[in-house]
Amino acid sequence: MNFHPPLAALLVAVTCLATNVQAQERHNAVPMPEWEPAQLEQALAKATLGRAEEGKRLHHFLYCSACHGDNGTSPSRNWPSLTGQKPDYVMKTLLDYKQNMRRDHYRKAFVMTKVSSLLDDTQMADLAAYYASQPAPTVPPQTQGKLARKGALLATQGDAKRGIAACAGCHGEQGESGVTPDTPALAGQTPEYFIQAMKMYKQGMRTSDVGGVMRMFARPLSDAEITSLAHYYAGLGSRGSLAP
Ligand code: HEC
Ligand code: HEC
Repeated sequence: MNFHPPLAALLVAVTCLATNVQAQERHNAVPMPEWEPAQLEQALAKATLGRAEEGKRLHHFLYCSACHGDNGTSPSRNWPSLTGQKPDYVMKTLLDYKQNMRRDHYRKAFVMTKVSSLLDDTQMADLAAYYASQPAPTVPPQTQGKLARKGALLATQGDAKRGIAACAGCHGEQGESGVTPDTPALAGQTPEYFIQAMKMYKQGMRTSDVGGVMRMFARPLSDAEITSLAHYYAGLGSRGSLAP
């Protein structure tokens, strides 16, 4: 039989794809777990003990930099930025993925579920300390100020009629991070990632939010409102100002 390189490559690709689809189906079939507050507190006990220098080494050694950028600020609209987050939140998200609390339909979270399964608590704390030590993302060029207007109103005032609290009440006046160390910063976050995160809460594919707070706030929001909120927060950046 003659060896046919392009066909062989195609066959390998198709086989890999089929295996991935099966793995994904198995992954989705597992029920979605939730955090008990006491269990989370115990799991995060190491979060403040991280060593930023070791985290920096791991960030490059484990190729986190390939997607999340040289220092954790994403160079691409495909990946979230990790800089500007408090250590507790980053450590928590890595535990969330490891425990199958974050899934999606197009396999982005699946990458992180795999990656986080290779990390132990000490490595997670070191990585978290590194991202927290780096400057928060600045305003990305793709931000659309006009699109952000409606989002600005929802973020600062909420919508009492629909039971939506002002996002700023928890995520900070400038989206700089929350009242508790496990509430994420939203300023300067990649809009595509923000939208995906909100949709996953809305669809119940992300159960990492303790007590279901984000699932509750995301449910009544329309797609247009979510997009607007994403552009509002992307525009805040570390400079903490926006003129919509
Ligand atoms: C192949 C690309 C890729 C690599 C490599 C990768 N990530 Fe990710 N990471 C992603 C994507 C995509 C997401 C968003 C997934 C989602 O929608 O839940 C993400 C999300 C995250 C989040 C959650 C962000 C948030 O705001 O909740 C953390 C923390 C994170 N990654 C850390 C890491 C660390 C640490 C490594 C290395 C050990 C790493 N990532 C390697 C692509 C990658
Ligand atoms: C009661 C406090 C509270 C309010 C109000 C709130 N949030 Fe959150 N939000 C949280 C917490 C806590 C998390 C982390 C949940 C988790 O770990 O999954 C979070 C997570 C998020 C995330 C995921 C960020 C990431 O990096 O993955 C987004 C996006 C978000 N919130 C947007 C919003 C928006 C938009 C509003 C207003 C409509 C809002 N939040 C209102 C507490 C709140």
